Amino acid sequence: MSDVQLAGELLRSPEFNTGASGFFRELLPTRAAQVAIGQAARNFLRAGVPEYRDALAGALADLPAVSRWPATASELVYRGLANVLLHPGSSAGPRRLMDEALHGGVMFRPPHVWQRARAEVLRGKLIAAVTEEVASRREGPLERSRDVLDAVLGACPDALADRTVAEVFLVLFRSIVAPVSSTLAWSVLLTCLHHPSDSPWPWPATWIVREAMRHRPMVWMVGRTVVRPAEFGGLPFRPGDVLSVSPFLVHHDRHHWADPDVFRPERWAESGERGPYIPFGAGPYTCVGASVALSLMTETLTALTRDARLAVTGADARPAMVEGAVPRPFTVLRTLT
Ligand code: HEM
Repeated sequence: MSDVQLAGELLRSPEFNTGASGFFRELLPTRAAQVAIGQAARNFLRAGVPEYRDALAGALADLPAVSRWPATASELVYRGLANVLLHPGSSAGPRRLMDEALHGGVMFRPPHVWQRARAEVLRGKLIAAVTEEVASRREGPLERSRDVLDAVLGACPDALADRTVAEVFLVLFRSIVAPVSSTLAWSVLLTCLHHPSDSPWPWPATWIVREAMRHRPMVWMVGRTVVRPAEFGGLPFRPGDVLSVSPFLVHHDRHHWADPDVFRPERWAESGERGPYIPFGAGPYTCVGASVALSLMTETLTALTRDARLAVTGADARPAMVEGAVPRPFTVLRTLT
């Protein structure tokens, strides 16, 4: 079996894909609870796309002609999603702390110890504030779903502690905002480098986003934990061992992809077989938010380039590794046409 076949086998075989997934760590008691919460959050997000679009328009109106990325990508995505995550009638505390968390090292692990210590304090405060919000929502009358936190509350087991609900919410907050904004930043960076001319981009946003996720998948490793002694790829493994697949390597396999090292959005319009594509994982634990994530990213890229040209300076297409592959800082010049 080739490495790529082994990767597919690892992500799909019942041997490594039964029971709870690692996404919510040990927070939820059953696989059924994991699935219910993931789907509830995804459904709420999907219904919130029009609200995202409106809020994004406001954020873009405030965007200066020169901006620093990838921080700006996080800002745009977050401003689009803030009210969908926690509705505007929520207490001020968690909303303010969520704003601070965006750039305070909670979203991505910062490089320095002192930054990590500060981020840990901020994370603790955010969890405490969301825990209070959960407690007050649980005491009050049942409301229709107004935000992702309500969606989580509606889908989680009643016995789940308020603090655990808050931690589940934080997992979702990070897992939504971080990969969506990183992929947006990669899309802008790679397209500007590949198409430096002043003419409009010749590709639809969907091809660009798909190709950015192939060329620079934000999720660097997708892992499966061995639960009982097993043999895989001819090697023995013990319980607790973690086997990982690299979407990056799978997407750059020369036997399956033509010109894998070239960023080429037009490949998504070509007929014929493409290679294995796993930016959202694969098998029973595949990302439940894949299609809504694609909508958010293409919406944002389309809005960003509507009546505007983008150019980058200070760009370097090598990834920085911070719990995922994110672009190194670069500057975007956005000129309205
Ligand atoms: C570009 C954006 C995103 C990327 C690249 C991404 C990537 C991933 C990956 C690689 C996994 C693990 C899959 C596996 O183990 O095989 C995953 C799981 C998951 N993602 Fe996403 N994700 C994105 C956006 C979202 C969004 C918007 C949601 C919103 C609900 C979401 C919710 C989840 C959930 C709940 C799981 C756990 C699935 C399970 O264990 O059953 N993701 N995601």
